[in-house]
Amino acid sequence: MTGFRALRIFEENGKTVTRIVEASLDELDAGEVVIRAAYSSINYKDALAGTGTGRIIRRFPLIGGIDVAGTVVSSSDASIKAGDAVICTSYDLGVAHDGGFADYVRVPAAWIVPLPAGLTLEESMCLGTAGYTAGLAVQLMEQNDLAPGNGRVLVNGATGGVASLAIEMLAGLGYEITAITGKDSERAYLEHLGATEVLSRHTVEMGKKPLEKTLWAGAVDSLGGEPLAWLTRTMRIGGVIAAIGNAAGPDLHTTVFPFILRGVRLIGIDSVNTGMPLRRKIWQRLGGDLKPRHLADVAHPIGLEEVPAAFEKLIKAEVRGRYLVKLA
Ligand SMILES: NC(=O)c1ccc[n+]([C@@H]2O[C@H](COP(=O)([O-])OP(=O)(O)OC[C@H]3O[C@@H](n4cnc5c(N)ncnc54)[C@H](OP(=O)(O)O)[C@@H]3O)[C@@H](O)[C@H]2O)c1
Repeated sequence: MTGFRALRIFEENGKTVTRIVEASLDELDAGEVVIRAAYSSINYKDALAGTGTGRIIRRFPLIGGIDVAGTVVSSSDASIKAGDAVICTSYDLGVAHDGGFADYVRVPAAWIVPLPAGLTLEESMCLGTAGYTAGLAVQLMEQNDLAPGNGRVLVNGATGGVASLAIEMLAGLGYEITAITGKDSERAYLEHLGATEVLSRHTVEMGKKPLEKTLWAGAVDSLGGEPLAWLTRTMRIGGVIAAIGNAAGPDLHTTVFPFILRGVRLIGIDSVNTGMPLRRKIWQRLGGDLKPRHLADVAHPIGLEEVPAAFEKLIKAEVRGRYLVKLA
């Protein structure tokens, strides 16, 4: 394969710049499987990488994109065959190995997930790493005893990619959801996804006491910082928080009291290093009981040439839902 399009990220004069280049298969990082990419998607991490806002890329120049789905063109691994529909996310993809913003992608066979029943390639990338992470959070919260009868679940950064999809998944499972957003104009969107209460980030009183009134049985936190500290202070007895992101900051200032007096559980969600058996199980659930009903409302399709502008909007928190990138 020669002469296909790829969005390559360079470091020039200490700055991160992106350009759409003509690439060839010979230039791509090594792997047993070549995929004709159909779709990728944009995650916050892609925006951090592509704008240089975060030190995500470990080797320049690199084709960006931590997600891809497509059809196998060739494989030297016996378990994967030409014509298979596959998904690849996580590991070093788009971080230290040429990623998914290209018409062709070459990856190790060990990173491949077969497209599960119940999802098209397009739907799998409407979900992408954001949807996978939301699904992993639901699974791990359930393993920590969260159930629909326990009480409300709080989802913050609610119009974001992970959060929008988490709201859909939890609503589909029968949870009562409170969404907190900085975009007061998006109340109707969040209710459409399944939130039964929508609060404004600008008016929520977070208090300062080590233990505040108990409110939430579960929480999906994309923010870190003070919003996460407030969650620890307001969880119900035995409540579980899925710590996913740091869009509001990496620090966490709290006390041990929520943990030793209310049995609050703070669980870490790491989408990159999940083992393959659990990863495949989550993808199967994403095509089954976790499949969001409004994927088309959450994901906006764009072309490769629109990706750099989308990075900027994500960094400025101007995006509702997520971007689906259409490829070859
Ligand atoms: N642990 C993992 O494996 C994993 C996987 C995927 C993502 N993540 C992390 O999870 C977070 C969300 O990812 P995403 O792809 O969903 O990002 P996203 O689409 O950009 O969503 C982030 C949302 O957070 C809110 N927000 C942004 N800046 C904020 C601020 N300064 N203070 C308070 N709220 C703010 C905004 O929602 P509102 O305007 O509605 O409030 C924004 O839409 C990121 O930190 C990302 O790196 C982690």
